[in-house]
Amino acid sequence: MKKQTIQPAKHLTGGVEPPGDKSISHRYAMLAAIAEGASELRHFAAAVDCHSTLDCMAALGAEVKVDKDTVRVKGCGPGGLKSSRRALDAGNSGTTMRLLTGILAGQQFTTSLTGDESLQRRPMGRVVSPLREMGADIRARQDNFAPLEIRGSRLRRIDYKTPVASAQVKSAVLLAGLFADGTTSVTEPARTRDHTELALEEFGACVEKLGNSTRVQGAFGGAKLQARSLDVPGDLSSAVFFIAAASLFPDSNLLIHNVGLNPTRTAILDVFAAMGAALQVQSLRSAHGELVGDISVKGAPLKGGVIEGEQIPLVIDELPMLAALGPHTEQGIEIRDAAELRIKESDRIAALAENLRRMGATVDERRDGLRVEGRKAGRLRGAEIDPLGDHRIAMAFAVCALAAAGPTVIRDADCAGVSYPTFYQDLERVAER
Ligand code: S3P
Repeated sequence: MKKQTIQPAKHLTGGVEPPGDKSISHRYAMLAAIAEGASELRHFAAAVDCHSTLDCMAALGAEVKVDKDTVRVKGCGPGGLKSSRRALDAGNSGTTMRLLTGILAGQQFTTSLTGDESLQRRPMGRVVSPLREMGADIRARQDNFAPLEIRGSRLRRIDYKTPVASAQVKSAVLLAGLFADGTTSVTEPARTRDHTELALEEFGACVEKLGNSTRVQGAFGGAKLQARSLDVPGDLSSAVFFIAAASLFPDSNLLIHNVGLNPTRTAILDVFAAMGAALQVQSLRSAHGELVGDISVKGAPLKGGVIEGEQIPLVIDELPMLAALGPHTEQGIEIRDAAELRIKESDRIAALAENLRRMGATVDERRDGLRVEGRKAGRLRGAEIDPLGDHRIAMAFAVCALAAAGPTVIRDADCAGVSYPTFYQDLERVAER
């Protein structure tokens, strides 16, 4: 378990390109595996999580070849996935487990699906329940946790109202909908990322969106999808660590290249802009239904503020970074309505409160969020951080540490590889000391 020391920085300068988007890579890998023909996925995520998805799809019979960040997948076609002799392992990846459960619910065989300790503590009832309504027989530990045993079958279409605003739940039902007869619909309480819908369209499925509802057309045995040659945009959720880091220092001047700017992900840019960050989106272009661009960031004093309500699902993965910026802002940061943070890769509210306090911040931890006092409460000092095995906690504190007094040590720093294996190297390259 590697420790990483982060020294204070003077500013950030130069250019950086984040790895391929994690959410999009998972979806392209899964759809390529059930499509007909050979797909080429370029700039595929380096994230360990997405490689867990590739391993699962290979175990189910797809031919997967990885050459640096290009992945070639020869799909199995409708009804073509095969049962795996061993249990599938989703590792640390909630997206792998929840989305794949949707696909496996529609197969004519039984699959065991498990994950690491953290994933085995995360609720799966939220996907098991609608998939049972569709006719799958799914067993779960305490009816809610992995390992899962998924006995797939011929599925019934449903009109499902998701009780939580979760792209993973929506996606699991839509993917299962490919293996049902007729049209399956999902209605969400608030908008979430729509990469599944865009990817389904790209691979040739029939998808319709109306407000917070999405409909997908199925066919028993699996709708016919066609192989595609696709470029994955860079991950905005990874880029955010650099936006935050550059904003901290008046002399920063950073260009972040090739970043996915899907409107269901960019609420974080609005939050930064409202706090006073100096951001500019350049060279906006479209790639396979997804928007892509470059982001230039200059240093600017951040005001801080409150993040709550319908904003939360749209910035859910960026909340650790925002909270860890709190002590460097004028008014501090307050996060409300975000109880979901407690059931991510770690209990992120507890992990943020504990580690922020280690650095000397003043924090009020609440059931569904936290309030972190701003600059007036005092300058942060370097400390030893325990990210609790959570990639986004590790990266958020590495950034926070750049503007603290004295060095910070991140324990078990390698966990960043779950989404961004070269994060510390990339950060060191653009941080001037
Ligand atoms: C994701 C959806 C979100 C997000 C996760 C990736 C996805 O999870 O936090 O990192 O790719 O669909 P929820 O659906 O649980 O909100």
